[in-house]
Amino acid sequence: MSRTALLYYEKLGLIEGRRADNGYRIYSETDVQRIKLIQQLHQGGLSLMECKMTLDSKLDRDLLANRLVKLDEEIASKQQSRHLLASLVSNEKPWHEMAIKNAPSAYMQWLNAQGFNAQEAIQIKWLSKAMTHHDQYMNDFNLIFDELLRWGPGSHNDTLKALSKVPNTPRTVLDIGCGKGASTCILAQNLDASITAIDTNKSALTFLSNEVMSLSKTATVYTICGSMEQLPFHNKTFDLIWSEGAAYIMGVEQALKSWKALLTANGVLVFSDLVFNTQSVSEEVATYWEQAYPDMQTLDTRRLQVSEAGYELVADFSLGGSAWNNYYQPLQQRINTLLPEMANSDALKCLIDEINFYNAHHEAYDYHMFIVVNTKRL
Ligand SMILES: C[S@@+](CC[C@H](N)C(=O)[O-])C[C@H]1O[C@@H](n2cnc3c(N)ncnc32)[C@H](O)[C@@H]1O
Repeated sequence: MSRTALLYYEKLGLIEGRRADNGYRIYSETDVQRIKLIQQLHQGGLSLMECKMTLDSKLDRDLLANRLVKLDEEIASKQQSRHLLASLVSNEKPWHEMAIKNAPSAYMQWLNAQGFNAQEAIQIKWLSKAMTHHDQYMNDFNLIFDELLRWGPGSHNDTLKALSKVPNTPRTVLDIGCGKGASTCILAQNLDASITAIDTNKSALTFLSNEVMSLSKTATVYTICGSMEQLPFHNKTFDLIWSEGAAYIMGVEQALKSWKALLTANGVLVFSDLVFNTQSVSEEVATYWEQAYPDMQTLDTRRLQVSEAGYELVADFSLGGSAWNNYYQPLQQRINTLLPEMANSDALKCLIDEINFYNAHHEAYDYHMFIVVNTKRL
């Protein structure tokens, strides 16, 4: 212990030193023992005066019980931090799952800092996978999806239905995470507007540009290769923001918050997301989605988040079974084609599991479309 600390203890009356003839201060064996006890109590969260009261007076059991609760909380929190550090060191999955759930944007930055480019980082996050063998995983993943037109559930009719519920006449439209443009092309054919389609995947954008050229009547469509998390537009630019199956990549709540600034007053946001159909999700379903989409919510929770983010919900509806079929049927065919040469691929196995899981449990969850208006200033 430092000299200053000893003198301070003395000043508070915790110990009683005395000055020897040579000027040194002498402490008794009892003082030394008291110091040890005081230090332990102090580390447990008691102030020095509370330490003194505890040693010199009748025990204040309420005070100690309160400190005990706090101490238990601190230990639990330290345990979590320890667990996190351990899984970070060994690159285990729980760290990725925790980070995706609790700090999605910071997690993306962290992946970038580890040397993953934006597209890889997104795909890791997308699939909430640990990064072991990620090169192989990425290659397989791209090989499987490159040929598919849809990269998520959706249908022509559902896009048109959502569009019919948009209450304004949009002149400026942004399609975020447009992929190969399944929805962009429908918007282009049905709106008299300037449409900007943004995605991080260059080849998908090239595909979209070619598709647009082959359409008969269309609005103007610009494509931009960029991230939904750093959108290069001025505030209040768009009357309509469209995002099918993509808001979850940065987290729906975060998307609601940050895209709002880009909408004009009473501008409209249309997005689709995977939600639980019921409050009482079975353990099997909860466990599966906890690792595949940790931020998945019930429909009611998403509705609440919409209103808390300053939007008015105009309509929402469940995408029909054909939306899933449009995604899973071509995917299943692709899997069947690739399986003989890729039997050991983790990416392929994950997708097979996902389809099997859907077939067994699809009544518990839904792809849902939300049409919301930017009403309140927050
Ligand atoms: C599930 S797909 C949906 C694609 C399309 N909207 C559809 O319904 O077919 C998600 C899309 O988001 C894109 N994406 C992923 N991360 C992104 C990001 N940070 N910014 C923009 N697009 C992103 C992916 O490349 C992919 O095209």
